[in-house]
Amino acid sequence: MRALSKFVQVLPRLQPFCISAAMSAEVSRPTEFADISKITWSKFSYKLTDLVNDPHIPLQVPSQAALVQLHLTDSILPFASASSILDIACGPGTVYSTLLDSSITLNPNAPLLGNDISPSMIANLHETIASHPNDPRWTRVHAIVEDATSMTSIPSSSQSHVLSALGICNIPSSDAALLEVRRVMAPCGVFSMTSIAKAAWMTDVMGILGNFYPTRAVPFTSAKWRTKEGFAAELERNGFVDVLVEEAELRMGFASPEEIVETLWRVLPFIPSLTEGMRRDEIEGVKDAQVRFVRETYPDGILPGMALVGVAR
Ligand SMILES: C[S@@+](CC[C@H](N)C(=O)[O-])C[C@H]1O[C@@H](n2cnc3c(N)ncnc32)[C@H](O)[C@@H]1O
Repeated sequence: MRALSKFVQVLPRLQPFCISAAMSAEVSRPTEFADISKITWSKFSYKLTDLVNDPHIPLQVPSQAALVQLHLTDSILPFASASSILDIACGPGTVYSTLLDSSITLNPNAPLLGNDISPSMIANLHETIASHPNDPRWTRVHAIVEDATSMTSIPSSSQSHVLSALGICNIPSSDAALLEVRRVMAPCGVFSMTSIAKAAWMTDVMGILGNFYPTRAVPFTSAKWRTKEGFAAELERNGFVDVLVEEAELRMGFASPEEIVETLWRVLPFIPSLTEGMRRDEIEGVKDAQVRFVRETYPDGILPGMALVGVAR
């Protein structure tokens, strides 16, 4: 509410921009993360070190969600007994870096497999593996470019632990990906996935872009993955049982409003398509309003959010 009322205060200053830009952008654009095309995802890339790091918040947002996910999964089926672990849509390796830095006991013989549709994400993960040549835990990580909806490299019933962090919830054909999860999971295996249910950096900060220019509104997590009930129903509808969904608080720390705004514009995958055709002064106008908004609304340097973490058999 605090964020909303602050936004209403800055809104009148934004009006002149709205009209010209709304008229100039008529292309159909994604309204949910799941509308983002495979082509856009396959060009998406970030390194964990690209995200804002605040000295007061030791873990970055993706790792905060992954840590809750890993502990919840471990409580259902300990990683100490894992025969093989698969991380679907692994990105730059958030899940494995969080797992290897955590207190969770891991079977030292379990292969750690990963896939992602973005070659650049996989290259970033390979760089991390190569930077740990003498660490047998990292040299056990094998990651390839592969579509989650057709995991031809993974044999059926082969994975004791199947994980997907902020991955399957973003895939348009999540049903096809979940069918693949059920195929590759070992009979007594466990599956866990996460989504982002609330994120001030998306709805409040990047939302300003859509308030200036309604046809350029930023997409967000599909509604079905934003509530505990919807998330659980989605897993059950796809044949999973013993479904449990929990909330995990997220905190995106930032050193300055300027830094967080620039970072969001740099790392979010849909920015190039959403801003196509915008003039430099229009973009700068949005960024200025975002910086003002962040400075006024979040003086403590933290943008709040909430992840949902689901586990199932
Ligand atoms: C928000 S990122 C999360 C990455 C990582 N799991 C993390 O927590 O940092 C979403 C990831 O899903 C990947 N992705 C999107 N569609 C995919 C698909 N059909 N198959 C495999 N990966 C996909 C993207 O390339 C991206 O790396």
